[in-house]
Amino acid sequence: MNRSTTRIADLCHHVGATVTVRAWVIHLRSKGKLGFVVVRDGTGVLQGVVVKAEVPEADWAAFGTLTQECSVALTGEVRADARAPGGYEMGVRSLALIGASPLDYPIQPKEHGIDFLLDHRHFWLRSQRQAAIMRVRSELELAVHDFFAARDFVRCDTPILTAAIGERAGLFSTDYFDEGTAYLAQTGQLYGEALAAALGRIYTFGPTFRAEKSKTRRHLTEFWMIEPEMAWYDQDDNMDLQEDFVRYLVERVLERRPEELKVLERDTAPLACVSEPFARVDYTDAVRLVQEQGGALQWGEDLGAPDEAMIVDHYQRPVFVVNYPKEAKAFYMKENPADPRTVRCADLLAPEGRGEIIGGSQREDDYDKILHRLTEEGLPVEAYGWYLDLRKYGTFTHAGFGLGLERTIAWICGIEHIREVIPFPRMMGRLTP
Ligand code: 4AD
Ligand code: MG
Repeated sequence: MNRSTTRIADLCHHVGATVTVRAWVIHLRSKGKLGFVVVRDGTGVLQGVVVKAEVPEADWAAFGTLTQECSVALTGEVRADARAPGGYEMGVRSLALIGASPLDYPIQPKEHGIDFLLDHRHFWLRSQRQAAIMRVRSELELAVHDFFAARDFVRCDTPILTAAIGERAGLFSTDYFDEGTAYLAQTGQLYGEALAAALGRIYTFGPTFRAEKSKTRRHLTEFWMIEPEMAWYDQDDNMDLQEDFVRYLVERVLERRPEELKVLERDTAPLACVSEPFARVDYTDAVRLVQEQGGALQWGEDLGAPDEAMIVDHYQRPVFVVNYPKEAKAFYMKENPADPRTVRCADLLAPEGRGEIIGGSQREDDYDKILHRLTEEGLPVEAYGWYLDLRKYGTFTHAGFGLGLERTIAWICGIEHIREVIPFPRMMGRLTP
């Protein structure tokens, strides 16, 4: 880094001083012997005012060659100016073109189709809106670590190449030397359970992979998940923690990223609902509620997006749907002693039609029951030897959950489709850029 340059966000500390800013050109205008160049450096925007008589001749000539998205160094005096974009202006004294940008820069100030924008994601990220989303994402990632650090959880990293299958969703696989097929992890949970027995309370935060063929606004094939796993927690403790966690994440963004939410034109009023207790509804009651509203959902089925929307609209705040039928959920969930047709689990549905952002459960801790479930699901029992061992050697009550980072960001930012909240989305039909 060149220490003699200043980031646009720091200009407020340099009013009256002469500084150098290195940035990319987003707008150009000139009138006779007066020129305006608006630049961005990822931290803010700055308008430079170039007066022919006040810069060397070569620099005035260079100004004439600037184009959209070329990179430049501008040196001059910083002035506060409420009318200028960003609030500051620079009286440019010298200017240099660093990297030219041909006139065919693909993204122009006009409407582009979504596929075009995704094909040019490497440039699209330069827009103010996309940068705001990435800053909220970064804030949320920090918030996740702060939340768990304050509660003395240990962060653990789990493998991405695995032999044991965690969820029912589609699998990506690859040949793994002489060991047969390796799967890209759909979840870190099974390893999280082993780690919880070693450390007490842990969380994982990593990429997860699902060969989802669904083209919906909430499915990616590669997404990031936060998966806490807690020894000696039952499902009620688990939901209490989730409620605290989600409330903390929302409040943290409201408090620390108001500027970004403004750029995104997010109406933050609906987010205030997180300060109330979340609703907790039994699956059976949720099915009845959907049926009363004309939905076709039958007992035994997992909820579809329209079902979830009906349920959340009814409560107008985040809703836990608890105790799903066994057949609708993964093999590792604990049988509900009060109704063995169901399991001790909950999906947390976010408001504003966002649907499920968390899936969580208490884990089956009985050796015979979980072995039975593995067999019933047709899973290769030999790959789960180590997992079964956790029930054989000192089994323990434990629970955990997985929060989908992208769905959470999309909800908080009010972004329709989750492809916009990850820098380079992976979906069916998209592997580049
Ligand atoms: O409900 P899921 O499948 O739960 C698990 O993977 C458990 N192993 C979690 C646990 O108990 N440790 O996924 C958890 C969350 C979902 O609620 C959703 O937010 C997100 O992960 N998710 C996806 N996000 C984007 N694209 C996809 N294809 C997703 N699939 C799940
Ligand atoms: Mg789920």
